[in-house]
Amino acid sequence: MPMSTETSLAQIGVVGLAVMGSNLARNFARNGNTVAVYNRSTDKTDKLISDYATDGNFIPSKTIEDFVASLEKPRRAIIMVQAGHATDAVINQLAEVMEEGDIIIDGGNALYTDTVRREREIAARGLHFVGAGISGGEEGALNGPSIMPGGPKESWDALGPLLESIAAVVDGTPCVTHIGPDGAGHFVKMVHNGIEYADMQVIGEAYQLLRFGADMSPAEIADVFAEWNKGDLDSYLIEITAEVLRQVDAETGKPLVDVILDAAGQKGTGRWTVKEALDLGVPTTAIGEAVFARALSSSLGQRAAAQGNLPTGSLKTFGELGLDKAEFIEDVRRALYASKLVAYSQGFDEIKAGSDEHQWDVDPRDLATIWRGGCIIRAKFLNRIVEAYDNNAELPSLLLDPYFKGELEGLIDPWRKVVIYATQLGLPAPVFTSSLSYYDSLRAERLPAAIIQGQRDFFGAHTYQRIDKEGTFHTLWSGDRSEIES
Ligand code: ATR
Repeated sequence: MPMSTETSLAQIGVVGLAVMGSNLARNFARNGNTVAVYNRSTDKTDKLISDYATDGNFIPSKTIEDFVASLEKPRRAIIMVQAGHATDAVINQLAEVMEEGDIIIDGGNALYTDTVRREREIAARGLHFVGAGISGGEEGALNGPSIMPGGPKESWDALGPLLESIAAVVDGTPCVTHIGPDGAGHFVKMVHNGIEYADMQVIGEAYQLLRFGADMSPAEIADVFAEWNKGDLDSYLIEITAEVLRQVDAETGKPLVDVILDAAGQKGTGRWTVKEALDLGVPTTAIGEAVFARALSSSLGQRAAAQGNLPTGSLKTFGELGLDKAEFIEDVRRALYASKLVAYSQGFDEIKAGSDEHQWDVDPRDLATIWRGGCIIRAKFLNRIVEAYDNNAELPSLLLDPYFKGELEGLIDPWRKVVIYATQLGLPAPVFTSSLSYYDSLRAERLPAAIIQGQRDFFGAHTYQRIDKEGTFHTLWSGDRSEIES
């Protein structure tokens, strides 16, 4: 029998008690649930019980069999182990002892295609499998994450109240809802992370312009960001950026940001988002640029070879541009806001495309709602996205929502100016600039794609369509250059 701090059965179990898993288990316990806990090596289980027994009722087990036996039916077990092989191993161990109708939840950052496969395999064994994206990091896991569960609807009925008991709450609404079948939850979590990459990058670009364009100190920029955090850009990421910029390195007395190596790491979800976007044919340019910007930052050898070693053309200093500092700061804020809008709009486009492709029927309004709290991209701005989808569930692009269109009226000129300034100052702003090109492409009456179709027809007889009549056409380029219908 499992050793028990409580005689009744547990409503929920957590397998894998590293930081995320134990924080999640504690969160469940603190919210009145009896929580079965199990870890492959017992030291982590012992530590959880010895350090945090006061959080609530835990039932620790030393074997997976005891763990499963300590759960009430339908049994609900959340796996919080390393993504990949470890997850598959634990799923198998659980599936061997669980019974029909029981629910296995993978709370890790699984690739959604793995989740689709696992769901199929588990369903064939009579069990339910739920791939749940959990956002908010360690702190969120403990105090209220944003949770994106996929899997069968029936499992949501058994799981929903439990997940609602631990999720972040915004305006009385828990930041969790059933996203859609099989891999839907992990898919939207992936795109959430991609959006996060873009959001972080646009903040970085604003910093770069203020720091090396307007020559402001990190502390001054921290004040600017703290001010921005009171308006349209009010968000967790802006808030913590101000904190990072204010931090002074104890060892050197310099701003911490100046002693941190400027090579950004990544765990892969941003890259997955872009790969998937490529497959779906959705232009998530902002997320793509953000992923590439991290890659470029980490190409230290190449950067060292290029530093001071490439022609710059005739750059201008901030002074030479004759800019007013306060105006420049405000223009940068607006460029950031506009680029962020593009990034979110593209992310939601990818979710729609993924949902259509897999017939998940994901409601974008739900996502904006549950991302308002608990997760890294939590922001006031998401309320506007909720309203946008309230007004029109079939919006062709978030940018076309009347509220955002109105915002863009005030953003577009500063945005264009900032892109020009960045170019003149010689400062990189890949998401600011590419997002503006995306925006101009989206609204353009004619795109150079007509030329590309002409070229394709010339070298490969790939044919083209005409704007004035139905059909598919080819010009006899190496003949008399007359047009034939093909
Ligand atoms: P973190 O980054 O927070 O440490 P992680 O690396 O994603 O978390 O996951 C580590 C967890 O996965 C641990 O609970 C680990 O168990 P041990 O404490 O016994 O090492 C668990 N884990 C890893 N591989 C596993 C496997 N094959 N079977 C069961 N659990 C495994």
